[in-house]
This record gives sequence, structure tokens and C-alpha cells, in this order.
Amino acid sequence: MRVGLLHSLIRKEEKLLFEAFKQQGVTPIMLDDRKLTFDLESVPDIDLVVERCINHSRAMHGLRLFESLGIRCINSSDVARICGDKILTSVALKEAGLAQPPIRIAFTEDSALIAIEELGYPVVLKPAVGSWGRLLAKVNDRESAEAILEHKTVLGSYHHSIFYIQKYVEKQGRDIRSFVVGNECIAAIYRSSSHWITNTARGAVATGCPVTDEIASLSVAAAHAVGGGVLAVDLFESTEGLLVNEVNYTMEFRNSIDTTGVNIPGRVVTYVLEQLK
Ligand SMILES: Nc1ncnc2c1ncn2[C@@H]1O[C@H](COP(=O)(O)OP(=O)(O)O)[C@@H](O)[C@H]1O
Ligand SMILES: [Mg+2]
Repeated sequence: MRVGLLHSLIRKEEKLLFEAFKQQGVTPIMLDDRKLTFDLESVPDIDLVVERCINHSRAMHGLRLFESLGIRCINSSDVARICGDKILTSVALKEAGLAQPPIRIAFTEDSALIAIEELGYPVVLKPAVGSWGRLLAKVNDRESAEAILEHKTVLGSYHHSIFYIQKYVEKQGRDIRSFVVGNECIAAIYRSSSHWITNTARGAVATGCPVTDEIASLSVAAAHAVGGGVLAVDLFESTEGLLVNEVNYTMEFRNSIDTTGVNIPGRVVTYVLEQLK
């Protein structure tokens, strides 16, 4: 079996996956996205590609290129396209009938301001394409809304004028990050912080979260809504119950193995190898 590991910098996750593959008798072929070139024709000697890029555009395009050569990818380019864009993710969640925070999408400063006032403060503005809690803005009043919308429009690339606006959710100082592999929710953590942004990349603390039936079924449904595979789901515990915030397609898990006691890389590798049978 020839498994390609599509990567950029080798982080802890890629090392753990590499070791987990070796433990299951497969030495992955490392595909460095900084060195790869494609000619649309040459088919590499690989049965399946596991995507671990850092950059969304490289991942999405790389996956599509491999798929066009007949190579199965985990996750697929469609999953990457949807999860990498919060607007497309929200559409997919809505189409699957899953609860998410109230949102608005707008394409100009004026329409965004109207949408924000309609939702009511506080709201959260997010880049549609972005991660690790970067460039999120919690907006508490009209004056900050006007300022942030203007700054995004004037100082940002055009991409920052596609406004993704969510109602701020009171989430008890934490959110839930669950891990889905195929049809199973294999583990979950709480991410707690005194800051409203609870990404572990931003200093939030991870602790074990029991995978209740509700967390499991919502997480698997959210993963399926975006096309399925190996996915990490962000959930909020709101007063109206669990809400799906987003779904991540190149999941990070370094802080979650000891915390949950689940061999996450091992489970991912088992799933990947099963797909080749
Ligand atoms: N609408 C919201 N209400 C409350 N907290 C939020 C909201 N949106 C995001 N957050 C906080 O910010 C974090 C990062 O937001 P997220 O949408 O997951 O973006 P990223 O892709 O950068 O991880 C979330 O894990 C959560 O702690
Ligand atoms: Mg997130």
C-alpha cells in the first residue's frame, strides 16, 4: 500500500501520523507541498493521499489535482473546500438541518452594518477563510462595528470584505472540540479560557470531555454534512443546547491524545488503511 502524506512544515501531528502508519506496517511517502509540481498528466505511484497542509489553498488545490489523477484523498477536495470556508460550512450545516449560531453574510460595509444591527450585539466577525482564532472580532456596539467594517474594507484584501457575521454565543467559558473518524466520534475535549476565543493555539486549556450520545450524534452528523472523513468539530453549549460552530478538515490533535486517552493518530491510520481495502 502506498500512502502519500501531503504536508508543509512537519508538525507534531504529522510526526505522530507517520509513526502510527509505520506501526501498522506502512511507511508513508512524504509529499512536501513546497516542492511538488503538477502537470495534470503524470500520475504518482500512490494509492491514497492523506492531506496535512498548513495552507488552505494549497490543500484544496493539491487535493483536487491528485483526485483528477484518480487518487483517493482523505479528506477529499470537496470537504476541504467546504470546511475551509465558513460560509460554505454554514450552508452545509443548514442543509443538513443542524443547529448553528444565528448568522448573516453580507458583501458591503453598509449591508453588513444593517445585518449586524438585525442580529443584535454582541456579534462576532470572522474571515470566511481563516483559522487558529486569527482576525476574529467581537463587536459590542455600533461604533466598533463601523470601525471594524471600515478597517476590513480599507486595509484588508478583498477577501476581508466578504462579511461572515455570527451572533455571539454565551458558552460558559469553553467550547467542545470533538474528533470524528468515519462514522464515529472517537473523542472530545473541552477548551477553556478566560478569553472568549478558546482555540488551544490561543492558550486555551484542554481537558477531557465525555462523549455523550448527543455530542457523538451531532458531531458525526456535522462531519457527514460537509462530506465526511477525518474531521474535528467545534461545538458551543448554548442555553438552547449544542450548536455547531465549525468543522475543521486538517485536524490538530497533539493536545488531545493524553487528555482523552484515545490514540487519535492510530484511529486515523486504521480508518485510512480500511479505505484502501
Ligand atoms: N459566535 C461565537 N460566540 C462565542 N464564541 C465564539 C463565536 N465564534 C467563535 N468563538 C470563539 O472563537 C473560537 C474560534 O472561532 P472559530 O469560528 O472556531 O474560528 P477558527 O477557524 O479561527 O478556529 C471558537 O473556538 C470560540 O471559542
Ligand atoms: Mg475553530
